[in-house]
Amino acid sequence: MAGPVSRALRVPSFAKVNLGLEVLGTRGDGYHELRTLFQTVDLADEILLQPRPEDAGVTVACDHPLVPKDGTNLAVRAADALRRYGNVATGVHIEIRKRIPVGGGLGGGSSNAAAVLLGLDRLWRLGLGPAGLHGLARKLGADVPFFLVGGTALGLARGDEVYPLRRQVRAHVVLVDAGMPVSTAAVFRRLDASLTPRENSNSIFYFVSRDLEGSRDLRLLTNDLEQAALEEAPALKERAERIRAVLVRAGAGLAALSGSGSTYFGLFDGAGKARLARRALGAAGFAAIPARTLSLDQYRKVWSRSLGR
Ligand code: C5P
Repeated sequence: MAGPVSRALRVPSFAKVNLGLEVLGTRGDGYHELRTLFQTVDLADEILLQPRPEDAGVTVACDHPLVPKDGTNLAVRAADALRRYGNVATGVHIEIRKRIPVGGGLGGGSSNAAAVLLGLDRLWRLGLGPAGLHGLARKLGADVPFFLVGGTALGLARGDEVYPLRRQVRAHVVLVDAGMPVSTAAVFRRLDASLTPRENSNSIFYFVSRDLEGSRDLRLLTNDLEQAALEEAPALKERAERIRAVLVRAGAGLAALSGSGSTYFGLFDGAGKARLARRALGAAGFAAIPARTLSLDQYRKVWSRSLGR
């Protein structure tokens, strides 16, 4: 077998939105049983993996002040875990250029971890691939396995059982960073403390069944975490109402909170409507990021190009 690659490797690390998210109950392991529809978008951080001598270990640099630069960084934990798993005798320096809002429900940290696993699997010639990396990925975080797959996918259990949808969603996306990072764990705690009994919804089941019959209805989808996120960050509520109103007025087929927030997003079937939404959001004082959905095939292609396959 050829030895480890000694040159640096540059890989993308895409963001996701949750088109819908249902919390079905609590689990024995402290997590929650979920049913969610993940979607990758083409907004991405850039990661540079630079081989280092063994005694240098795993180090990280990032241009964003809120991203940890020590061993608690999920990208570092991913590299350490893979290094141990593969008995790798070299170090690596990870450089992250952040474009995905931090603490925004867009999966930036989880995506970075998955990108590091895929990149180092190539750099260190371990040959594990997405399937072989899944076990390590799920230990790092519930959203990490999804980023080994990408596209439009159903997430079950903790969100770490991932099943791609046959018909992939294609749309223009407008992401609105409400500028209030929210802790996912805190939002789940608030949901548990809520006195209002929640009925389990079946919106994702209906969406997927209808979709299989060729009639797609994004408006069926809901996010069970939204209420708790708005309670966790009360100042977000007023902003959320304004953001959603602008997105809907511009013709969004779906206007929703991603994950535990605080990023809202709109899906549009045309570039014109998306542009209109961005302009209106800008005029209302919100930072809007333009993006496109990234389908399963597109995700695969970008990754095989990055890994030189
Ligand atoms: O797995 P990850 O560290 O990304 O999750 C962050 C937090 O979100 C967890 O510590 C947990 O509190 C909460 N969570 C949950 N159930 C899930 C996913 C996440 O309770 N299925």
